[in-house]
Amino acid sequence: MASVGIDAIDIWTGKLELDLAETFAPEKGEDPAKYTKGLGLYSSSLPDVYEDIVTMGANAARRLMERKDLHPQDIGRIDVATESSFDNSKPVSTYIAGCLEQVFDGDFHHANKGERKFACVSGTQSVDDAYNWIRAGRNRGRSALVIATDTALYARGDAGEATQGAGAVAMLVSEDPDLVELSPEQGYGSADETDFLKPNQQFPSVDGKRSVQVYLARMREAMEDFESVAGDIHPDDYELGPFHTPFPGMVRKAAVLAYRHIIRDTEVEDALADDIGRQPRPEAFDTEEEHLDAISEYTDRLKDTEQYRDWYERVIKPTLTISRHVGNWYTGSVHVARAGGLKWARENGRELTGKRLLVGSYGSGAQAEIHAETVQPGWTEEIADLNVDEQLNGRRGLSFEEYEQIHDVHNHAEDADVEAFTTPEREFVFDGWGRMGERKYRFVE
Ligand code: COA
Repeated sequence: MASVGIDAIDIWTGKLELDLAETFAPEKGEDPAKYTKGLGLYSSSLPDVYEDIVTMGANAARRLMERKDLHPQDIGRIDVATESSFDNSKPVSTYIAGCLEQVFDGDFHHANKGERKFACVSGTQSVDDAYNWIRAGRNRGRSALVIATDTALYARGDAGEATQGAGAVAMLVSEDPDLVELSPEQGYGSADETDFLKPNQQFPSVDGKRSVQVYLARMREAMEDFESVAGDIHPDDYELGPFHTPFPGMVRKAAVLAYRHIIRDTEVEDALADDIGRQPRPEAFDTEEEHLDAISEYTDRLKDTEQYRDWYERVIKPTLTISRHVGNWYTGSVHVARAGGLKWARENGRELTGKRLLVGSYGSGAQAEIHAETVQPGWTEEIADLNVDEQLNGRRGLSFEEYEQIHDVHNHAEDADVEAFTTPEREFVFDGWGRMGERKYRFVE
């Protein structure tokens, strides 16, 4: 069976930065620690006036194609995952292909293009579609370009405003990948939920607290489903656990529940029993409520153990290193977590070839998906080619007033005329509207 997975990855961040502790918190009359410690976020990436989901996606894809010396004829599929689309018919992938055709010789006329929607999980679903297409033998030796691109903006004053972000992740899915091979085993946790939705509106209607609960419930279901095909998970099985990261504090909540689950009936639970007791089992309680209370107390004790802290520092924390500085990129978020974890591992001399990642994706509405990935020998070179630090450090910081202006620029209901804060260089930019209401783009040298 051919090995199929992610061959290369590239990231394009929105070029503006809102510092949450220094700039946002004081305006909201809040303690900066709510952001840095509670949500685990330092700043949000936001798009400049000439940026949108097309420019960010096309810029990430161009960088990836140039770096891998690819030409349009090498690509048999372009799938875009987004929940920030601006057209109910024409897919963003056609706009991105049009951009790329401005700078590459040849065209994508024989590439299948589409757009995937299921909140934040659709980035992973698009990777899945590409995987299935290759495994079905329909790719004629070509690769798929998967692009997760979003401007994750909330209405001003919404609690979600603190978790905003904008950026794109481009991934090349191929046979014999250089970065990670995907497992055929997957687990799903999916239910009709009303936690976050955009019924024909630009900014989401969000029940934030409920969305946190739904994330945890669906992720747990997906984990159990994954174990039913891949076998029980042990904490030592996986070197990194990139999870969907709307904000790092969400992953912190999920991580301790996941750890509790995977140490159950293992020597780790036995070793901890003297200090914190064993995990409460339902048969020992008269009511479900008493059982849940006991579990919650056990989880609090577990959180403070050396074993859990070591596991969290090794497996989870590295995956949050980029996310903390960019906010939520919706469809790209779990892919940013993977990139962050691998980047940290490379910089800290961890050898991951042949080791496994446990990847947990989630989309509101709601669906969680869990699969495993095996790191390939080419991973260090692939990750070394990312220029994430350069991009993050090059962002233009915004004052609160400037943030309000840029939020208006990207608000479809406003007609804001604001000068760009940065000067584009060797990148695609939004270039106004065409006669049928289409968006126009051009490459700036
Ligand atoms: N120091 C340290 N921590 C602090 C703090 C301080 N001064 N002030 C608050 N915190 C903590 C809170 O205790 C809380 O952590 P906890 O949940 O572990 O208790 C965290 O910071 C956030 O504070 P909270 O008051 O709950 O924030 P909020 O009411 O503004 O909303 C969300 C948080 C997540 C509900 C909101 O950002 C949201 O709606 N986000 C969009 C939806 C989303 O991302 N959902 C996730 C699933 S996809």
